[in-house]
Amino acid sequence: MKSIISALAIYTVAALVVGGLAGLAVMYSGIFNVAATVEDAAPLKWVLVTTREAAIQSRAKAIQVPELGGTTQVENGFRFFRQECAMCHTPPGQVGTMMSKGLNPAPPPLAGLVEDMTDAELFWVTENGIRFTGMPAWYPTHVDRDLWDVVAFMRAATAMKAADYEALDRRILPGPQH
Ligand code: HEC
Repeated sequence: MKSIISALAIYTVAALVVGGLAGLAVMYSGIFNVAATVEDAAPLKWVLVTTREAAIQSRAKAIQVPELGGTTQVENGFRFFRQECAMCHTPPGQVGTMMSKGLNPAPPPLAGLVEDMTDAELFWVTENGIRFTGMPAWYPTHVDRDLWDVVAFMRAATAMKAADYEALDRRILPGPQH
């Protein structure tokens, strides 16, 4: 019994050493292509997406969601969105910017942003960003109220057609109004 356990221990250590060396070889050889133009292989994509979704869900649980959806709040959220988010998350009826086309993973268009996400999750993502994607964190530069404004806007925008977005664009002046 003892000899089986020590044999297993030796094999495990050997496997770890070989695995570690193989990992180092991949890292230093340059064989792994980090270009944004390369599509991740399906298993890697699955690992990344599953990890990301679980991380967001578990961290968002503790967030207390305030009442959302007042007109001023949605309009302030629109100003923030137009200024900081629209270049990546294409609004309805608009053509994606050159930057949005070069990102990997591709940023979802405005209409698809809230899909399967709670308000707390939308807030957490906007606050903290998502590492290994182009999604920036906004808490270093904004207070919670601004972040809730943009969450309220994203939620309200799900039903927006191109004409509704354009009408807001014409009507809403830059700068927050509280
Ligand atoms: C530089 C481009 C860029 C900017 C600017 C940007 N985002 Fe993102 N965003 C991304 C990318 C890339 C993702 C990740 C997409 C994925 O997970 O596949 C993302 C993901 C998200 C998600 C999660 C969507 C989902 O289904 O997982 C939300 C919500 C979001 N962004 C909101 C915002 C808000 C609000 C702003 C502005 C305050 C903003 N983003 C600005 C690129 C950007």
